[in-house]
Amino acid sequence: MKADRLEITPAVRIGGVAAVPGDKAISHRLAMMGAIADGRTVIRNFAESADCASTLECLRRLRVPIDRKGTTVTVEGRGLRGLQKPSSELDAGNSGTTVRFMAGLVSGFPFESTFIGDASLSRRPMKRVIDPLRRFGATIEARDDNYLPMKVSGGGLRPIDFKLPIPSAQLKSCVLLAGLYASGTTRVHEPVPSRNHTEIALAEFGAHIRTGPNTIEIDGGASLHGKEFTVPGDVSSAAFFIVAALAVPGSRLTLTNVGLNPTRSGLINLLEDRQAKIAIAEMSASGGEAVGNVVVESSDIPGLEIGGSWIPNVIDEIPVLAVLGTRTQNGIRIRDASELRVKESDRINAVAVNLRALGAEVEEFPDGLFVPGRQTLHSGVVDSFGDHRIAMAFAVAGLLADGPVTIKNPGCVGISFPSFFDILAEIRQGK
Ligand code: S3P
Repeated sequence: MKADRLEITPAVRIGGVAAVPGDKAISHRLAMMGAIADGRTVIRNFAESADCASTLECLRRLRVPIDRKGTTVTVEGRGLRGLQKPSSELDAGNSGTTVRFMAGLVSGFPFESTFIGDASLSRRPMKRVIDPLRRFGATIEARDDNYLPMKVSGGGLRPIDFKLPIPSAQLKSCVLLAGLYASGTTRVHEPVPSRNHTEIALAEFGAHIRTGPNTIEIDGGASLHGKEFTVPGDVSSAAFFIVAALAVPGSRLTLTNVGLNPTRSGLINLLEDRQAKIAIAEMSASGGEAVGNVVVESSDIPGLEIGGSWIPNVIDEIPVLAVLGTRTQNGIRIRDASELRVKESDRINAVAVNLRALGAEVEEFPDGLFVPGRQTLHSGVVDSFGDHRIAMAFAVAGLLADGPVTIKNPGCVGISFPSFFDILAEIRQGK
């Protein structure tokens, strides 16, 4: 998308049947694990996301042969020890998942890898991965010991026992991937559960991994075995359309083939609990992940309080939940979500600034927001802050407003969901 501004007009109704692209989080993981597996891994319905393209490019720099035809990615695995010294810097672009996961991966190798990223990624904290990787025995240098550029070299890792200081699946995954290269069993204690796609994918590839309540153990040195996967649709992408259908009166939307891993589907579960008309049909499983169709009808939602252990489960959906808050009876209150301040943008601030730009009231806390209910959003100009999820959340706000909403810099939707505006155009009915 080239335009630096896009106008979204109010929606009459949301309807029809649509499929969202493959899950970004799962696509990253399968590509990285495929790269260090023995043999070939074929990944169907690979995410369209620019972030996942950054992961593929970094793997290519580590001399992993990767072929991509549309949404099918074929990775010729190099084996556990098979990555080679990168031909240049590893550019993770906008992708925190790429850099944090890959830092764990390349810690297993004696050569030096240098990670760089865009302006947003270069402001995001890396100390969280630097600390445990040093305990494994890796050598790491980073700007101010916390930011990109970051140089990592390793090899000869010793296993660690690690309690996650923050509920972060990126951090957990970094430690588990480094654990593959340690000379024994690495244990991760996870007081608050976060998405478990890494554990599921590692088990699918044949890693020696054991999960118990709040604890994960992984044995170093075991080979992974390449295989074929079909990635479920991304529930975090579906969330924008689910909220649109709930909030625009007279809507009924079916989203097919959506990933419904319970550590990711908090938005659906929380809203169902609050009388939202959401039905799940045709459940199945793919690569160890739950998949199903989601049928949503417009609903009058009383209101919602989200905090504590729910936060990691809905972390990427909070911007669009905040927009939904204006359409509930009593509003949506979000606490314990200070991690949002260090995402692709400061999402607490971005949501507050944009809601105010559309005439809404919102209370901002250090760790969250309160968006009062029964508010009408008005015509106005909002900023994506270069953050894909802010752009999409405020496109949904545009559907709900009483006049057109202009989004500045909407092109960043490509980070997770390049076809977002096309699918949105298809599901708008009675335009
Ligand atoms: C991700 C985990 C989350 C999420 C990010 C992707 C992942 O980050 O916000 O979009 O793929 O593991 P944290 O685990 O750092 O909260």
